[in-house]
Amino acid sequence: MVIPAILAKSQKEFQEKIKLIQPYVEIIQIDVMDGAFVPNTTWADTDVIEHLHLPMKFEAHLMVENPERGTIEEWAEAGAFRIIFHIESTQKPEECIKQIKKFKREAGIAINPKTPLAKIKPFLKKIDYVLAMGVTPGFSGQKFQSIALQKIKQIRKMAPTVKISVDGGVDRKNSKKLYSAGSDSLCAASSIFKEKNIRKAIEELNNK
Ligand code: DX5
Repeated sequence: MVIPAILAKSQKEFQEKIKLIQPYVEIIQIDVMDGAFVPNTTWADTDVIEHLHLPMKFEAHLMVENPERGTIEEWAEAGAFRIIFHIESTQKPEECIKQIKKFKREAGIAINPKTPLAKIKPFLKKIDYVLAMGVTPGFSGQKFQSIALQKIKQIRKMAPTVKISVDGGVDRKNSKKLYSAGSDSLCAASSIFKEKNIRKAIEELNNK
């Protein structure tokens, strides 16, 4: 299954993107960037999003520093069913997981291409989801780094039941390889939104 990543600079762009994919997907990922953990920012206003009553489930991909200082809580209250924080963004991963679980949300950890898997190993039994980054986060449209493929295979061996997704540089040329490496879902932005035929792009990326 493909999970479209919504990286938006404004509420208008956010709602336009939702409208484009709405008929074809059950889950979206909202990209939350703070301009500090990554060199980019996004529009992702939880007060507004909560009241938009989105027609699908959404997960929040928090690319922010120290998400345990309020960001996790904000997204849980806004209705995210899954909250993903970066292992590189916090000194307190246990606290992040605890906060997510307190709200009974699924807990996910994202890991950048350069970060060794040893960093997330101690937490694999406590979380629901791993987001293996195929790019260094910050921008859409970057080239996929194949180290993510190795990571997916290793995570699958280390934790047979954790859900795995991959994000960044996913397209219809590498999607099948990513599924067979052990990814349960794929997150993608440009390979969906740059296409004229959105329905077809989603169908192709759904195809295992
Ligand atoms: C990477 C973001 C991704 C991004 C994916 O900075 O975390 O979610 O939106 O974009 P594509 O699919 O274009 O690489």
